[in-house]
Amino acid sequence: MPPMDDRQAFIDWMVKTRGEDPDFLGQRYDLFLNTVQHRDLWTDLNKRAFLMTPREEFVLKRNLDRAYASDFLDIGYGVTISGPRLVARMTSVLDVQKGDKVLEIGTGSGFQSAYLCHLTDQVCSIEIVQPLFERTGGIYADLIARGYVEFSAVQRKNDDGYYGWAENAPFDKIIVTCGIDHVPPPLLEQLKPGGIMVIPVGPPGAQHVLKVTKTLGADGKFTVARSDIYHGSVVPFVPFTKLQDGKIVGTHFN
Ligand SMILES: C[S@@+](CC[C@H](N)C(=O)[O-])C[C@H]1O[C@@H](n2cnc3c(N)ncnc32)[C@H](O)[C@@H]1O
Repeated sequence: MPPMDDRQAFIDWMVKTRGEDPDFLGQRYDLFLNTVQHRDLWTDLNKRAFLMTPREEFVLKRNLDRAYASDFLDIGYGVTISGPRLVARMTSVLDVQKGDKVLEIGTGSGFQSAYLCHLTDQVCSIEIVQPLFERTGGIYADLIARGYVEFSAVQRKNDDGYYGWAENAPFDKIIVTCGIDHVPPPLLEQLKPGGIMVIPVGPPGAQHVLKVTKTLGADGKFTVARSDIYHGSVVPFVPFTKLQDGKIVGTHFN
């Protein structure tokens, strides 16, 4: 656990144990405090994951000076790295426990899956855009070579995440980072009873981020419950697109 209640102690500990840049570490700590104050981050495990994930490694070089701003940022290919407070809230709601098997739909920059690696050692992530999938693979390979061995926990594939990852199912937790107007039935099916899914659901560009829970009743029937993690506020996400014959064609919107 890095020190969490003192900025300088955090910076010193991280410089000593991870060899990271003190300036980025200071910015990370300030964003951490801001995220806690906004009630987007509340468990110790998630606080640690937030502080241990080097966001500067996952943004484009031209956006390095905004790596610790609270906004989403362009990562090329028409998609974005989600804002850090959104990542913190979605992951805190997911309540990942050590050993949980987690599926992420929409690897994008790799930041969300890197964050998940600080919570569990079983992370599966699917990205539909092939060149982005390859670029993120290079970022992970470089970070692992530099000592971030925890990122070896991410199992990735380039595919359409609508159908989940049957070979690795069932999952304790599922996090979807692109917006769609319904919960994909295959994802619900691949969620374990007692599991949690966090998914942005709504019309294009105007989703509600839902926590979906699946419970097995005494009668052997499943119950699905939904709640809005932003209590009614709309959050825009990049669209949940569709792969057909190896090409991205439109979206999975009904
Ligand atoms: C908000 S962005 C990336 C967020 C990402 N989790 C991160 O940390 O950078 C959402 C991602 O979902 C991907 N995506 C969209 N539709 C998809 C699909 N059907 N299957 C898998 N990934 C998809 C996009 O290409 C994009 O990279």
